[in-house]
Amino acid sequence: MLAKINSSAVVGVDAYPVTVEVDIAAGLPSFSIVGLPDAAVKESKDRVVAAVRNSGFDFPSKRVTVNLAPADIKKEGASFDLAIAVGVLRARKLIDAEPDGFCFIGELALDGAVRPVKGVLPIVLSLKDSGIRKVMVPKANLGEAMVAGDIDVYPVEKLKDVSDFLCGKKEIKPFSGGYEACGREKEEYDVDFSEVKGQQFVKRALEIAAAGGHNVLMVGPPGSGKSMLARRLPTILPDLHFEESLETTKIHSVVGLVSPGQGLIKKRPFRAPHHTVSDIALIGGGTYPRPGDVSLAHNGVLFLDELPEFHRDVLEVLRQPLEDRVVTVSRAKGSVAYPASFMFIGAMNPCPCGNFGHPERECLCGPYKIRKYVSRISGPLMDRIDIHVEVPSLKITELARDFGEAEPSSDIRKRVVMARQRQKERLEGDKIYCNSRMGTRHIRKYCALDKESKDFLIAVIERLRLSARAYDRILKVARTIADLARKEEIEREHVAEAAQYRRMDAYLA
Ligand SMILES: Nc1ncnc2c1ncn2[C@@H]1O[C@H](COP(=O)(O)OP(=O)(O)O)[C@@H](O)[C@H]1O
Ligand SMILES: [Mg+2]
Ligand SMILES: [Zn+2]
Repeated sequence: MLAKINSSAVVGVDAYPVTVEVDIAAGLPSFSIVGLPDAAVKESKDRVVAAVRNSGFDFPSKRVTVNLAPADIKKEGASFDLAIAVGVLRARKLIDAEPDGFCFIGELALDGAVRPVKGVLPIVLSLKDSGIRKVMVPKANLGEAMVAGDIDVYPVEKLKDVSDFLCGKKEIKPFSGGYEACGREKEEYDVDFSEVKGQQFVKRALEIAAAGGHNVLMVGPPGSGKSMLARRLPTILPDLHFEESLETTKIHSVVGLVSPGQGLIKKRPFRAPHHTVSDIALIGGGTYPRPGDVSLAHNGVLFLDELPEFHRDVLEVLRQPLEDRVVTVSRAKGSVAYPASFMFIGAMNPCPCGNFGHPERECLCGPYKIRKYVSRISGPLMDRIDIHVEVPSLKITELARDFGEAEPSSDIRKRVVMARQRQKERLEGDKIYCNSRMGTRHIRKYCALDKESKDFLIAVIERLRLSARAYDRILKVARTIADLARKEEIEREHVAEAAQYRRMDAYLA
């Protein structure tokens, strides 16, 4: 007989219904899977045969054909195992009732255990549209599956339990309840700005960056605390709201990075790929496309340490996500888009030896070597960085000093949230949400200077020999500084502070 079982396939960060049809017919024993399966799906044959046998059933010595419909969606990975096995049992009438209204997701181990799979959150979210209200998922994926709400989620551990349940021989208690049930309470970060001694100037720059969504470049010798500071940037950004949590969790689900029991990701992600990262790992893509670091950093922070060490091509590909907040990856059939909206923070040594500007060590690099080193960072990337900040090394004596109680991240975050609210109200009509996203038109409209401030800015640009491009960038950052000061007009002191954050321009001119 022919059995039809509901399952689902993930494409990009969304899922689509797939029907697993299993036909058992007379003929020489064979087992084939059709319907655009990839290699991992084909391997499912061996797993399903062993899992069925080791669950106490005979595998039919007949012609078994599995069709994954519709055929125009490429089926990837091992998540169809459970649906295929249930289909085989149903086609042999070992399961007496039609498991209608259920969707089955899971990989099978040879002994019949159900293993966790990738993409459970997008799958469960997509069920809402297809009218299916019940889903069987691997127990380890229960947390993310429950996020969807309105769906009864049956956590399963063994194929035998699934067949016993479908035959009415066993109870499996479904979970539902949506994201409230998986804890919407806030989650604390395990790092905090209060742990960073001194460095008031850098902390101020990062507060401005967080407030306006400005990308940052930190320049300082090894050990000066650049990584320490960058890692704390997510802690001063506004809390993730539900939609953002959902988007970020979906992306992590697709690559299998949601830990069991975690449910929703509630902290802004921080991704720090090494400088040897490939462009595919950073941006996403590959034969079986998956999101890269830029998408795993979605709604959070992407940190590239030792920026000049990155391959030029790799930095070049950052252009699209920095501009469009999304990455498009082409694949055999059409293309998929992965969201990639993140704050960028880069770090580098001030010179090849790292000692330039160090209070105690000597740098022998010279201006030519330094210029060459800085110019390894591609123009298009530098063009999207509004704030440059020097991170001086603290002397040992300073590190040992008691700076008193430093301000906690939560206090800084309050000011960031206030400044973002002002921007939102101002920019909402223009469909942007923070100052860093302003284009030329918005800058003319919202960053007007009085004559005194304007003359001052022109004088600064000439004195520091900044490029014309620096002008607009200083205005955007000045706008954020004014917002932090709760001022509607940009004043001279805001411009003066903003101009301090263009230090690297001199090397790039
Ligand atoms: N301002 C600071 N306050 C407290 N500890 C610091 C500070 N700066 C550096 N450190 C200590 O030095 C270590 C090295 O800092 P790190 O962030 O790795 O430097 P970098 O990335 O610039 O090479 C940190 O893990 C931290 O223990
Ligand atoms: Mg570091
Ligand atoms: Zn040097």
